[in-house]
Amino acid sequence: METYLVGGAVRDRLLGLPVREQDWVVVGATPQAMTDLGYRQVGRDFPVFLHPDSAEEYALARTERKAGRGHRGFEVHSDPSVTLEEDLRRRDLTVNAIAETTDGELIDPYGGQADLEARVLRHVSEAFVEDPLRVLRVARFAAYLHHLGFEVAPDTLALMQSLSDSGELETLSAERLWSETARALDTQHPGVFLDVLDQCGAGARLFPEWREAHNAREKLARTAAARAGAELRFAALCSGLDTTAVDTLCQRLNAPRRFRELAGLWAALESDLAAPGRLDTSSRLQVLERSDAFRRPERFQQLLTLLNLLHPEADAEFWHQALARCRSVDVAAIAASGISGREVGARLRAEREKLLD
Ligand code: CTP
Repeated sequence: METYLVGGAVRDRLLGLPVREQDWVVVGATPQAMTDLGYRQVGRDFPVFLHPDSAEEYALARTERKAGRGHRGFEVHSDPSVTLEEDLRRRDLTVNAIAETTDGELIDPYGGQADLEARVLRHVSEAFVEDPLRVLRVARFAAYLHHLGFEVAPDTLALMQSLSDSGELETLSAERLWSETARALDTQHPGVFLDVLDQCGAGARLFPEWREAHNAREKLARTAAARAGAELRFAALCSGLDTTAVDTLCQRLNAPRRFRELAGLWAALESDLAAPGRLDTSSRLQVLERSDAFRRPERFQQLLTLLNLLHPEADAEFWHQALARCRSVDVAAIAASGISGREVGARLRAEREKLLD
């Protein structure tokens, strides 16, 4: 049995990028042989095992055949006769289909090194279209490798277009959509992810809200340039949407709550936060209340960070001070004054409003 390093680890090392995780392919083994060696089987659909010590993934060499719709609609064939070349052929991109022996020798039957050199993201074979997730993966790799000059090969873009047209994208689960999107947002040039999806017709299908939202993409680029976290980037990209659109989008993506909440607040409050001078004291207080700034000051701080990045001319300091002043109102003293609960609320608001003039 032979073991080879494959996929992103080989690609990234050849590009001089940090390697995040190592995937291995094993040729000439059976599941029984793997478990006998102490590996633990984890793949439900594929014969994938975890190394007993390193916990890295070791997959038995396999071929796949489309046997249904969607990302999981495959018939997997794996036995000790499947060759390394056959396994590499079912992979998405040539740059992801280079294998490395334990002695450091590269096995590259599909021209992955030449494409790394030429900065091209190119499909390995027509089997590319068997997995709609690859449309998102290629767009994500285009964003991840944009700073090195990578582009999607025209033929590959055409296959992505036909996958989009086939309606297969609609079979992707929200979890898959989100995990690719979140990873793409975390790259240096996240806007490239959306540009590539637009170019192949997937943007309109998957993220109609973000289509042609050039202003929002410019804002996304600014958050990325400032190395802001993914939550802030996502919120920046939702600039200009109404809150219903943000909700619909987040639901489709199954975006985690903290992303959904920040994006919804930013979409609703951006223009008020950017121009406190245009608001009366009651509206200023409403901004603090709607953003739940009193109970969630750290999230309010995220909104102010966005304000600083996306509206550098705006007076973020005003909001820092507004919150600090409102917090100085002695709620306990008002509550202890013997008035009813409702009156406490009204008095508290009135006191706070006075401080927001
Ligand atoms: N792969 C594929 N098609 C997919 C998913 C994965 O062909 N839909 C193959 C590719 O060869 C890929 C390898 O499986 O390189 C490992 O996949 P994964 O760990 O998801 O991605 P990496 O390419 O390793 O890159 P990264 O970890 O940066 O996503």
